[in-house]
Amino acid sequence: MTYEEARAQFPVFERWAYMNAGTMGPLSRATLTAMDEQIRHDQELGRGGSDWFTSVIALREQVRTQLAALLGTAPERVALTFSTTDGCNIVLSGLDLTADDEVITTDQEHFGLTGPVYASGARVVITAADEDAILGAITPRTKLIATCEVLWTTGRRLDLHRVKAESGLPVLVDGAQSAGAIAVEVGELDFYTVSAQKWLCAPEPTGALYVRDPESVRIVAPSYSSQSSYELSGAFVPKEGAARFDSGRTGMPTLVGLVAALDTHPAWRYERAVEMAASCAELLGEHVEIVTVPGHSTLVSFRPPGDPAELVQELAARSVIVRELPGRNLVRVSCGWWTSSDDLERVVDALRR
Ligand SMILES: Cc1ncc(COP(=O)(O)O)c(C=O)c1O
Repeated sequence: MTYEEARAQFPVFERWAYMNAGTMGPLSRATLTAMDEQIRHDQELGRGGSDWFTSVIALREQVRTQLAALLGTAPERVALTFSTTDGCNIVLSGLDLTADDEVITTDQEHFGLTGPVYASGARVVITAADEDAILGAITPRTKLIATCEVLWTTGRRLDLHRVKAESGLPVLVDGAQSAGAIAVEVGELDFYTVSAQKWLCAPEPTGALYVRDPESVRIVAPSYSSQSSYELSGAFVPKEGAARFDSGRTGMPTLVGLVAALDTHPAWRYERAVEMAASCAELLGEHVEIVTVPGHSTLVSFRPPGDPAELVQELAARSVIVRELPGRNLVRVSCGWWTSSDDLERVVDALRR
């Protein structure tokens, strides 16, 4: 697939310089068509019957296998969830933490991670978003390190393999800005979340959770999809592996949309996305203060001279879609493999004015 063919899959680019995959990725024509066809099918033939249920189960396993490959692991270690927040809740509620336990996190996290961290009941220890700061905060009471691989604020990438190797502690990775954006290998990490609606360009709500040792986490929110058998009393046998954490049913239109979305990405996706982010930082750097370290990720954040919210609105009026990071005085540009030089020129041009 050439770059032009790959980019032409997304109708949204005909109108906008759409640079907000860190929030929601663009939807391809194939994804939209698959969803439309499924809705029509469900309308005409109903949602039921053994063929329908068999296809749901087959599609779920296909998606599990594809997402496992994306993370460099086996399908048995991947749960299908609705989001990163969902994955963080599954882990943090299943570890049975108490007020005597400590969870280390950083001052650059999204509520999708910090909400579940605080709800766990453990003492929350906040450090700077830096490997040494995290390692320096460990005490005998530390039970978990929970942070992003790519910070949603500055786009900095943390070396969490180093943190895992040097701490030996369980590490929960919020992968919302890394999975699908940059090459990911879960390696020795314990938990890794995926938000498929972002860099994987899937409909929402879709996501996944990698769990290295599924039997070590208590199941706190069993769903019909997560059991292999149950009795009339409600007692149940969980599925083998991480499927025991599957978050209920993803609607069929969403599921077929996710399957189609996973097929839209070319082999050269990661290289080109990072190249475009580097190019974006270089071009914008002539006009604004860039706070992103080059080469770390596909996000480029900058501190505008004026009000970030106003700037984002002004850019939208010029058909450029980026986002403001509330409370951080930053504007964030998401560069995907699909980003064109023309998209970047449009941001620069809008900033110049
Ligand atoms: C770093 C980070 N974590 C979590 C989330 C929440 O993701 P989800 O909607 O998949 O729960 C986001 C979304 O913006 C994010 O950027």
